[in-house]
Amino acid sequence: MTQSIRKASRRRVLAGMAAAGAAAATGFVPTRFAIGQQAKIRLGLMLPYTGTYAALGKNIDDALRLAIHEKGGTLGGRDIEYVTLDDESDPAKGSDNANKLVARDKVDFMIGTVHSGVVMAMVKVARDTNTMLVIPNGGVGAATGALCAPNIFRTSFSNWQPAYAMGKVAADAGRKRAVVISWDYAAGKESTDAFTEAFTKGGGKTEKGLFLPFPGVEFQPLLTEIAALKPDVVYAFFAGGGAVKFVKDYAAAGLKKAIPLVGPGFLTDGTLEAQGEAAQGLETTLHYADDLKFAKDKTFRAAFKQATGRDADVYAVQGYDTGTLLISGLGAVKGDVKARDALVDAMEKTVFDSPRGRFTLSKAHNPVQDFYLRKVQGTENRYVRVAVKALADPATGCKMSA
Ligand code: PHB
Repeated sequence: MTQSIRKASRRRVLAGMAAAGAAAATGFVPTRFAIGQQAKIRLGLMLPYTGTYAALGKNIDDALRLAIHEKGGTLGGRDIEYVTLDDESDPAKGSDNANKLVARDKVDFMIGTVHSGVVMAMVKVARDTNTMLVIPNGGVGAATGALCAPNIFRTSFSNWQPAYAMGKVAADAGRKRAVVISWDYAAGKESTDAFTEAFTKGGGKTEKGLFLPFPGVEFQPLLTEIAALKPDVVYAFFAGGGAVKFVKDYAAAGLKKAIPLVGPGFLTDGTLEAQGEAAQGLETTLHYADDLKFAKDKTFRAAFKQATGRDADVYAVQGYDTGTLLISGLGAVKGDVKARDALVDAMEKTVFDSPRGRFTLSKAHNPVQDFYLRKVQGTENRYVRVAVKALADPATGCKMSA
């Protein structure tokens, strides 16, 4: 009974979201436009809809639309046209894809993406064309560091943030010798470097870095090396499908009992159903956990479940908060995207209750946020404690010119 009610209303929310999309695709013209008001706001969603990060992209997309749907489905009083593009997490296609959104689709905002290498391409296009960009995941430091700009915002994290928190936790736990392992691209390198930075500061030493090409999952030779090195702790940055495979392979190799495996929370976020027993007890740091006590988190998780049938995770939160940031910024300028200074100003000043806690941005446009230590229990990343409070990315090299 309850189940079928839930299903029915989930269908209604999704149908509502789909109808809005269909109206956009068929060029449906609302009455307000006919009597001389503004055209639709065009949002270009450039996300991974296929590949190892596909589930991450889907949760960002669904939650962004949910946030806007909950507030009446408009932005600053204007209807919305969503343009979606699968970036395949392929940096080589990043510039072409981003340029398509700007030149061909004439989007007002680019929203994307998950993969740091593709984010870099989007950042360059955003700077070259002065297009608004909101990054709902990819943590590459330069986006809110050396390449920061008034038109570039990030609602997620920098790669440095959760990694630094974990380095501190591992050092505080008395671990001395670490091995770090990841994919060989910006996110993996920045994440493992930031872990090492905090771990070294706390008296530890990273003895070895092991890397494989993205999105490879040939972990066996690297696991053999870890077994031979016998460090006190292994720090791993993997996410999505790759994280599922790594955590399972680590346990299957018999390493889980011998050497603690830690990481930024991506290692176990949105992946626990698939990881099962292999993930139980793993400790990670992230700006989200599955059982936070915030009222906003409870309503968000229920609404996301109802709309999609899936449990929320950090990617859904970031998509949802991207929606809230757009609602706030465009609300302040009543949908007038040309009022750029006022729009940027309003977005910079946006403060709200996110499912993760209080949301505020640094001067470099990256969230300043608490990082939680979490521990896997069943299919949840359970809150343990705040590992680092109000952690801001160093934003190295950011000179925000107006
Ligand atoms: C990134 O490439 O920056 C990235 C990808 C997936 C994550 C986190 C960061 O879960």
